[in-house]
Amino acid sequence: MKVLVVAASKHGATKEIGTAIVEELAIAGLDAVQAEPGDVTTLDGVDAVVVGSAVYMTQWMETIRNFISHYGPQLRELPLWAFSCGLSGVPIGNVQDPRRIGPALLSINPIDHQTFKGRMEFSGLSLRERSIARLGNAPEGDYREWDKIRAWAQQIAADLKEHLPEA
Ligand SMILES: Cc1cc2nc3c(=O)[nH]c(=O)nc-3n(C[C@H](O)[C@H](O)[C@H](O)COP(=O)(O)O)c2cc1C
Repeated sequence: MKVLVVAASKHGATKEIGTAIVEELAIAGLDAVQAEPGDVTTLDGVDAVVVGSAVYMTQWMETIRNFISHYGPQLRELPLWAFSCGLSGVPIGNVQDPRRIGPALLSINPIDHQTFKGRMEFSGLSLRERSIARLGNAPEGDYREWDKIRAWAQQIAADLKEHLPEA
């Protein structure tokens, strides 16, 4: 069973979450591959999809929004899971809720959507990003919860194996 994991990331934190998901799906025996949203040329032969994005200014990234609008009809026919990566779950600061990602997520109707805490490293940000982060009182650090991320991927694998055993 082929599972495509497509994660949009600007500074790498979300991409690494995508990689951890791929690893867990592969451990469970699935044929899992990761792709950048802009590199996907077809969904033919794909049995299930996991889409994810870093959240910037309450939005999913443009690359994943383009991917969703391009492949929308096919995505709606496939088992699909979604995740957001942001800092809203981090107790300090007032960055906004990454679930406010609007029509992109609503249009694909995922089986489940999770919000994972991300990473903020001021040194890697542009001047503009850094000012926004400071204005939002965003906390620096790596808040990713790998056990939670990997457990979610294991649950996806279990669900797929139960519902699509023949694929
Ligand atoms: C300019 C800027 C705006 C951000 N806006 C949000 C936001 O609206 N909601 C949120 O939860 N996180 C926000 N974040 C935090 C990022 O989503 C977080 O750092 C994430 O891990 C980045 O992922 P990436 O390394 O894959 O790009 C923002 C970060 C920056 C630098």
